Parts: sequence; C-alpha cells; structure tokens
Amino acid sequence: MGTTDLLPLWFGESDRVTPRAIREAAIASLAAGETFYSPNLGHPTLREDIAAYVSRLHGRVDGGRIAVTSSGVSALMLTLQSLVAPGDRVIVVTPVWPNLVEMPRILAAEVTCVPLRFGPRGWALDLDRLLESLEPGVRALLINSPNNPTGWTIRRDEQEALLSRCREIGAWIVADDVYERLFFRGPCAPSFLDIASESDRVVSCNSFSKAWCMTGWRVGWAVLPREVPADFAKLIEFNTSCVPQFVQRAASTALRDGEREVAFLVERIAANQRNVRRLLAGMPRIELGEPAACISSCACAACATAWSSADSWSRGAAWGLHPARPSAKRRQGFCAGVLRSKAIVWKRAFAGSGGSWKSPGRADFRAARARRRNSSAGRPR
Ligand SMILES: Cc1ncc(COP(=O)(O)O)c(C=O)c1O
Repeated sequence: MGTTDLLPLWFGESDRVTPRAIREAAIASLAAGETFYSPNLGHPTLREDIAAYVSRLHGRVDGGRIAVTSSGVSALMLTLQSLVAPGDRVIVVTPVWPNLVEMPRILAAEVTCVPLRFGPRGWALDLDRLLESLEPGVRALLINSPNNPTGWTIRRDEQEALLSRCREIGAWIVADDVYERLFFRGPCAPSFLDIASESDRVVSCNSFSKAWCMTGWRVGWAVLPREVPADFAKLIEFNTSCVPQFVQRAASTALRDGEREVAFLVERIAANQRNVRRLLAGMPRIELGEPAACISSCACAACATAWSSADSWSRGAAWGLHPARPSAKRRQGFCAGVLRSKAIVWKRAFAGSGGSWKSPGRADFRAARARRRNSSAGRPR
C-alpha cells in the first residue's frame, strides 16, 4: 500500500510465505525445463490430484470435471462468462468480497443482493428472503461460504433448501469455496459439492491462495458439472490459455504434502483470532459473533483495533463495520473513532458492494477532523 502505518486487513492473505516443499516443487519443475504451454483445463496430473483431494473432502469427483484456472478469481469469472448473458438475473449473498458483485455486473447481468443479518449469535442467512428472491427466471445464485468478510458459513439444511429451490427453477449455484479449509469446526466447511450430483447446476470455485499461502502464484480450480468442461476449455483458451506448468507442479505438491501446513495455519489463525476477540470484547460498542471460519465476525459502531504481530487474516478479525445505512452523523462518529485509534481498520473496498453497510467517504473523515479541530480549539491547553 506504500504506507507503513496502514495495515491491509481486508486482504485474504497470510503473512506467511508459501511452504518450502511447494516452492521447491516449482523450482524443480523449472530446472527440468517445464516451460511450455499446458492443456487448457490443466495438466492431467494436477486435475487428478485435485479430483482425489476434492473426493476426500466431498465424495467422489473425477478428474474430467476439474478445470485448473489462473486463480480463484479466474475460476469465478470464467464460470460467470460461461453462464451469464446481458440482462440475466443473478442473486448474490452479501456482504461479500466485492468482486462477486462486480463480476456479473461487468457481464451486464442484473444483480440483486440479499444481505446477511447480524444478530446476537453473529451473522446469519435470511433463508426465507433468499428463497423468495429465487424466482423463476433467475440465472444464478452466488454464495461465498465461509464468507469474506463476515466469517458466516452456510449450514447443511440451508444448502439443501437452496439446492432444491435452484433445481426447481433451473438456476445455477456458483459456490465460492476458497475459504472452505480455514474453518474452525472441522476439517472443511460444508460445500454444495457434498449434496449435489454431477449433473446438478452447481459449480464450486476454489483456490490454492488461502489454505496453502499461495496468493502470488495465481492458481485455482473449478469443479464443473459433467457436460461443462469442453466449453470451459475454450473460455480458458481465450482468457489465459493455461496455467504455467511449474505452478501446476507446485499446486500438486500442495495437495499431496500440504495437509500439515493447512492444519498449522488454521491453528495459528484460530489462536490469533482468539487474541483479537479478547481485545475487542473489552471495547465499548463492539458486538462480536462466534466465527465459524477465519474471516471477521464483528460489527461495531465505532472503530476496531489493530493487532500488530499476527497473520493479516487474524488481524482481519477486527474489521470495523459500522451499522447498516448509517446517518452522516454516525458515519462521522465512526471516522472520529478511527482518527482517535492508532490504526485504521476499515474496509473501504466494500463501499457500494450492495451489502448491508456503506463505508464512510473522505467527506466524512474531513468533517470528523474539522469537528475535532473545532472542539479542541476552544479547549484550554
Ligand atoms: C471470497 C474470495 N473469493 C475468491 C478470492 C480469490 O482468490 P484468488 O484469486 O487469490 O484465488 C478471494 C481473494 O481474496 C476471496 O476473498
């Protein structure tokens, strides 16, 4: 970001470097001269490795349904490019990492956001409202669970109700599962893959970025219904053509040898998050939910704090969210709190994502600063 006193807490990124064995696999591949194009859908070895990994977590999936992509973002965009035409109706559960709202918009879809609710037990899905929004004619439902930024994680009964409704109306479910392993209540969060058949209109998009600390490598995958991969291969050809081979070798190593690293990362994030929660719990006007996953789970009316020696994910647990549709006065109150605190923990990136809150703008900060100046001007020194 170019500033040392602003922590980018909104990035879903660890401060840990990619595990050594994974890096070494890429180095060995380059040393062996693997510098050529590879198949559009990915190297057969990696496709099989992904299929075996997904099968261990979610039940039998074969390599023919896997597309290796140049990141999780790319898996999602390719999926939407293959499904969405201008004017199509797309439903997105928010708040969410902004790309999920903007990608269908770029494709000229008509996007409706259905917000999660924040209550005494943390973030929750308004299932009835979401089911109501799934009217005949809706093309796709986009769900990110575990959710960035809230940590909300969908329950199995909610998945079943949504899958059944989407089957009725012929809508696609696009599941952004990139945080499925950074889950505190088991080895993996519930996935639509657990309950969908290979012909269901369900696409699960995933990434090596999060569980294996490989954000800079740009590699992910999609699990597709049986009939889709051939068309998907054409789209990959026109977007990126393929993922570099040495990156794919590294990805295979992550899947084969990376389980201990994943477990270690989750443990570390959980410990850091406990620290952040303990600190936040002592602050006034902060409400905390019990997070099921590594992302944040707090909403506060003032500002949050920063935690300087932890993974950015766990620091991210302290995101400061102000109330839904705040008045100018409350937004400026939030800004005043931020100005009083030592660090800014505020997620401008989510402004206007159609979610359940609106971030304060520069004008709010200017007003808060001016108020502070005015009130201290008359005060004895
Ligand atoms: C919810 C969500 N989905 C997908 C991604 C994409 O990850 P990548 O493109 O690094 O695989 C991110 C990255 O932050 C994310 O937060």
